[in-house]
Amino acid sequence: MTELSILLHPDPRLKKISIQVTNIDERIKKLCLDMIDTMYNHSGVGLAAPQVGVLKRVVVMDCSDDGEKSPVTLINPEIVWSSEEVSKFEEGCLSIPHIREEIKRPSSVQVKFTDICGISKESYFKGLWATCIQHEIDHLNGKLFIDYLGPIKRSFITKKMKKYKKEIIKK
Ligand code: NI
Repeated sequence: MTELSILLHPDPRLKKISIQVTNIDERIKKLCLDMIDTMYNHSGVGLAAPQVGVLKRVVVMDCSDDGEKSPVTLINPEIVWSSEEVSKFEEGCLSIPHIREEIKRPSSVQVKFTDICGISKESYFKGLWATCIQHEIDHLNGKLFIDYLGPIKRSFITKKMKKYKKEIIKK
């Protein structure tokens, strides 16, 4: 498997809307496996294809907390129902390292998607899984979790990230 490099905010590709996957071919399957590997290597719980520079509607995640790996791949995920009840979670993002902020989102969601074998499925997510899938689908629509924050906080984080990116380039 190949370790993919993760785009860091700010990057214009992270603001783009990703396109639907129409054919789950070997390239898409390899992308999914590489994304799962990359997510685990960075100790992330979710990763969306635009974060690795591929503007396609593919998401991988694993929010299990029992020590067992249970990766889930969602192709063309779509929220078909979300609860009125909301929950707050401290979110982070592999494209915005070292930043964590509390974000309010629906507590549970029903998601329609295609799995890696090309089978149409619908799953119910709650808790961290629900937050994670909403965060990842946002990525497919060019939206970052910091977009839920106020403009002052957001521009502060963006400035910090610009500085961080310059520093890692120097190394
Ligand atoms: Ni993210």
